[in-house]
Amino acid sequence: MPKTKIAPSILSADLSRINNEIREVEEYADLIHVDIMDGIFVPSTTIDSNFVKKIKTKVPLDVHLMVHEPSSSYIQGFIDAGAYSVTIHEEACKDPLNQIEFIKRNKVKAAVSIKPNTLLSRIIPYLDAVDMVLIMTVEPGWAGQKFVEATMPKVKELRKLRPNMDIEVDGGINPYTARIAFDSGANVFVAGTSIFGKKNRVTAIKEILNSLK
Ligand code: DX5
Ligand code: ZN
Repeated sequence: MPKTKIAPSILSADLSRINNEIREVEEYADLIHVDIMDGIFVPSTTIDSNFVKKIKTKVPLDVHLMVHEPSSSYIQGFIDAGAYSVTIHEEACKDPLNQIEFIKRNKVKAAVSIKPNTLLSRIIPYLDAVDMVLIMTVEPGWAGQKFVEATMPKVKELRKLRPNMDIEVDGGINPYTARIAFDSGANVFVAGTSIFGKKNRVTAIKEILNSLK
């Protein structure tokens, strides 16, 4: 199983003091998860690439595009802003391979994501092309939702198919659900509410890590 990684999601952070918020988790975060919503693929909107450009951290930025048909120039904006990885949604793209290949041509890690009700079979054609798969464990669009355990069979199946691939879970992750996802084969854990929603963020991360021991 690949290395366990914790990715605090800044969707639940105080964006008016984002660099201070990130500094609090920097020592224990493997990735900083950055949610981008377009108001089309999901009803809400969030930050844009100009905001991402202002993030100052040594922790790699894991950009999750909940965006309908992101164009090359749109994706380029996040690459220029310093993205380490860019995740696109299978449901949002007519031919996801176009976006995946564009991301990889720019020497950035590419990932594909599926929503809770999307079958794993939808992304099998892209597994050789991507560096990571994000199995959404809530409907994309909001922080603070309940973990959908019915997504775990997809994680188990994918882990069987790809023993060494990074498998990320996102949504409703806390020490208890992280353990469930870990036992199913996930190794990258995105957490918003259960980290930035807490007063002591370092303790919150340690609680997640301890649950995986
Ligand atoms: C949801 C986002 C998540 C969100 C998770 O659409 O993709 O990254 O920040 O928030 P929590 O951890 O609160 O479920
Ligand atoms: Zn996300």
